[in-house]
Amino acid sequence: MKVGEKHYRTIWVKKGDNKTVQIIDQRNLPHEFIIEDLKTVEETARAIKDMHVRGAGLVGATAGFGIYFATLQASKENFDEDVKKLSEKILATRPTTNNISYAVKKQLRAMKKGKTVQEKISIALKTAQEITDEDAEFCRRLGEHGYKIIEEISKKKNGEPVNILTHCNAGWLAFVDYGTATAPIYEAFNRGINVHVWVDETRPRNQGARLTAWELSNHGVPHTVIADNVGGHLMQHGMVDMVIVGTDRTTHTGDVANKIGTYLKALAAKDNNIPFYVALPSSTFDWEMKDGVKEIPIEERGNEEVKYAQGLLDGKVQKVLLTPKDSPAANYAFDVTPRRLITGLITERGICEASEKGVLGLYPEKKK
Ligand code: MRU
Repeated sequence: MKVGEKHYRTIWVKKGDNKTVQIIDQRNLPHEFIIEDLKTVEETARAIKDMHVRGAGLVGATAGFGIYFATLQASKENFDEDVKKLSEKILATRPTTNNISYAVKKQLRAMKKGKTVQEKISIALKTAQEITDEDAEFCRRLGEHGYKIIEEISKKKNGEPVNILTHCNAGWLAFVDYGTATAPIYEAFNRGINVHVWVDETRPRNQGARLTAWELSNHGVPHTVIADNVGGHLMQHGMVDMVIVGTDRTTHTGDVANKIGTYLKALAAKDNNIPFYVALPSSTFDWEMKDGVKEIPIEERGNEEVKYAQGLLDGKVQKVLLTPKDSPAANYAFDVTPRRLITGLITERGICEASEKGVLGLYPEKKK
């Protein structure tokens, strides 16, 4: 995606130095655009945990490079054991997203084919790059499937703007490129369909207000930022035609974990008969869990994210305290939307019902 006139992915190997990976540090966007170098497992784990990088696909791609760094740091004598131990640091970063374990498992499986340490290092670099390319390609493809839903609504509205509500940032910043919730929107916009996006601010970290709004602005897509609680009102007054969100983990039975607040939007959409779609690459499917509400681990983050707000003041990114200094605060980062509230899942293979039958229909090789 473009930032100014330059095309960026969110993660790449540094030109001329394949022991360094570069990322866009998202913490101070949209006010500061900073590129950061990662060289070790520890730096990579910190970048994921402290959200220099974030979003399902991007944390997965970053984890893939983390395992490559593990191969560079492991001793020759205890290579496999060391890599395994270092991989635990990556796995411990963010519990809700499926993409981290997807990438780590893919790496460890691929490396088994290497006979020497050198071969394993080369495989790890190649696999990390494959995970990255796959993520971008899956997002591109799901955009091609998803835009058709927007096109259909646009036809029914005789070309009037299609109003799409989205939550958090499931845009290109959350993946390697294109994004998930945004991919159908970009595709529709690029094809000349009249769209307008309602962007939930998404407290406490404001990924909607800071990141989705910035992305859509860069691409020229008409949008309006709203406070998190506005969606229900807009839906009651015919001002939302559809909802598209991303997800951090979706069970193969169709339950969707996504940024906190998604469930409430899905309830409001159901009550108002508004289609509610979830866009995801297959790397986000959990093929083991069956009951998302009971089984998906929900990350709890530090309470300072709730107590403080961050923004630009006097030309500098600063934090301000919102609550009484000593008030306790809780910070649940995700919730689970049950399948019964979801109209459909948009994947790289097409669109399906949010149910075991629907998902396995698209991914028959996963049938047990
Ligand atoms: O906590 P984050 O910012 O890593 O949360 C992930 C998300 O961006 C959202 O939950 C998103 O809607 C799905 S992941 C692309």
